[in-house]
Amino acid sequence: MIIKRFKNYQDLSDFAASDIANSIKNKPSLVLCMASGDTPKLTVDLLVKKLKEEKIDYSKITFIGLDEWVSLPPANTGSCHYFFQNKLIGPLELKPAQYFLFDALADDLQNECKKMDEFIDEKDGIDLMLVGIGMNGHIGFNEPGVSFNNLSHVIALDETTRSVGKKYFSEPVELTKGITIGFKHLLNAGKVFLMANGSKKAEVIKKAVEGPVTDNFPASVMQKHKNGFVLVDDEAASLLSKPH
Ligand code: F6R
Repeated sequence: MIIKRFKNYQDLSDFAASDIANSIKNKPSLVLCMASGDTPKLTVDLLVKKLKEEKIDYSKITFIGLDEWVSLPPANTGSCHYFFQNKLIGPLELKPAQYFLFDALADDLQNECKKMDEFIDEKDGIDLMLVGIGMNGHIGFNEPGVSFNNLSHVIALDETTRSVGKKYFSEPVELTKGITIGFKHLLNAGKVFLMANGSKKAEVIKKAVEGPVTDNFPASVMQKHKNGFVLVDDEAASLLSKPH
C-alpha cells in the first residue's frame, strides 16, 4: 500500500481522474468499479471531461457500481444508482451490457449478489477500484466486523452509516441494509484507490493506514492490497505520524 498526499481536494481528484483516464488509454476494455458519495464527485466529473476532451476511446469499458442502499428506488436522488447514472453512465452513454448496478429493489437480493459476482467473473475481475472511507472505517458497505473473504453480500448497516448516510437525502429515509461488493473482489482488483479529503477523515485515515489490520476497522484491508493506494489531501493526512 502506498500513500499519496495532495495539497487539496482538487489536486487529489485531478490525480485520480488522470490516472483512470490513462488506464483506459492503456486498456480500452478496463473494468472500473466505483463508489458514490461526496468524495469521488469531482474525480468523476473530471474523468468524464478528460475522456471527452482528450477523445479517449471509452466505448469498451465496463462499469460496476460498488454498492447500494437496500429498498431505495434508483430515482431517489440520494441513491448510488442515481449518482452513477447521472454522473457517469448517462454522460458517457454507456450501453446496458457495459455496466452492472445492484438492483436494491429486487425480491431476491441474494440472487443480485450472485449476478454481480458472475458479472465480475465474466469480466475477469476488476481492474481498477475507486473507493471512499466511511466514518466507521467502512468501504462500500463493508461494515465493521465484515470478513475480508466476502464476495457480494447484503449487510445490516451500522449506526454510524445510518446517521451519516442521511446527508445524501433531501427527504427523511430509513436506511437499514446495504448491498455491496465484498473485500474478496477488492483484494483481487488490479489496483485500488482509496480516497479521502478533509479534516473529518483524518482520524479514520490514521486508523486505516497506521492501525492494526482488523475486520473491526474494514478500511485497514488496504494494507493487505498489493497495489493499493491511499490518496489523501493534507487535511485528511494531518494525523498521520509517519511522514508521507
Ligand atoms: C458509497 C460508498 C461509501 C462511501 C463512504 C464515504 O457508494 O461506498 O462507502 O464511499 O461512506 O462517503 P463520502 O465520500 O460521502 O464521505
